[in-house]
Amino acid sequence: MLEDSFGRQFHYLRLSVTEACNFRCQYCLPDGYQGPSSEHFLSLGEINTLLSAFSGLGTSKVRLTGGEPTLRRDFLDILSATANTPGIKRVAMTTHGGRMAEHAASWKQAGLHQVNVSIDSLDPRQFAAITGQDKLKQVLAGLDAAVEAGLDVKVNSVLLNDFSDARLNRFLEWLKTMPVTLRFIELMETGDTTSFFKAQHQGGTPLKQTLIDAGWQPMVRRKDAGPAQEFFHPDYAGKIGLIMPYSKDFCKSCNRLRVAANGKLHLCLFSEHGIDMRHLLAEQDVVGLQQFLVECLGEKHATHFLHEGNTGATKHLAMLGG
Ligand code: GTP
Ligand code: 5AD
Ligand code: SF4
Repeated sequence: MLEDSFGRQFHYLRLSVTEACNFRCQYCLPDGYQGPSSEHFLSLGEINTLLSAFSGLGTSKVRLTGGEPTLRRDFLDILSATANTPGIKRVAMTTHGGRMAEHAASWKQAGLHQVNVSIDSLDPRQFAAITGQDKLKQVLAGLDAAVEAGLDVKVNSVLLNDFSDARLNRFLEWLKTMPVTLRFIELMETGDTTSFFKAQHQGGTPLKQTLIDAGWQPMVRRKDAGPAQEFFHPDYAGKIGLIMPYSKDFCKSCNRLRVAANGKLHLCLFSEHGIDMRHLLAEQDVVGLQQFLVECLGEKHATHFLHEGNTGATKHLAMLGG
């Protein structure tokens, strides 16, 4: 088992398979993606070596992220390889959802369990303004297809000053019948998005109080739970989660490691730098890789330094899939 010097255990790997994305979310890639195309990122062979090393060290859950992971032509092969790796019990992905209506059933068949999708507003105009893509209809059709296919579905929605109470009310109405978990995420500052962050960041505490006042009740947190505090309401089919990285103790329960599409290990979403492992992947040196990972974990810090305005080397979250 991978463990750091603070006693935190890491059974969860978030693997970015491409930095490329065709959306232009204002908080992530407002000018669109301009880096190398997907062929430059980890190959299926390198991914297989990586997965063998991590699963041998106790990793049981893998989330495929991007950028937009479905922009990889071999995405279905990557998904199957992940699901077929001995020891990997849970396979998840994070997507913008634009291609999900056509593909949800085949992803499920390839071994996917969970999908997380961004929807920052249920108003088509607001959705288009924030993502640069007028695709709310397609994404909602994708969500229906994912629920239909039996996938566990979560929706991510970033908290922004520009979005008013009307947005929350529309989401609440929707959750009455929609069996998904909607998570509101505090906007995080990244290297490339400082001015947007300054204009738009708001803390999640007032929203939490609004939900509690409306009868939403906190759910008991599982020991291996993710970063969201979750709430349920007897009158709603859906649940609500709050992800508040600026709150005290957010990092205490950290249980995930990240590998970027260029093969660098990131010990935190906001690491000072990524640690290159591509030579070990190229040599298919699973044992060497495992020794390296165990050594690297000793360098993991207790917390991120976002409170101090330090975004590390993270220019935008498309590098690492959040
Ligand atoms: P599951 O619990 O598996 O559903 O994963 P998740 O909630 O971490 O998945 P998702 O990719 O939807 O992540 C939601 C968002 O939460 C991420 O994009 C980040 O914005 C934020 N987040 C997740 N993990 C961390 C973390 O370790 N640190 C910080 N600062 N933010 C995180
Ligand atoms: N702050 C908070 N969340 C972000 N995401 C992307 N960039 C940011 C940011 N700067 C979220 C997206 C997506 C998830 C992977 O990361 O909403 O759902
Ligand atoms: Fe693409 Fe996701 Fe970034 Fe939006 S948040 S630009 S969908 S990688």
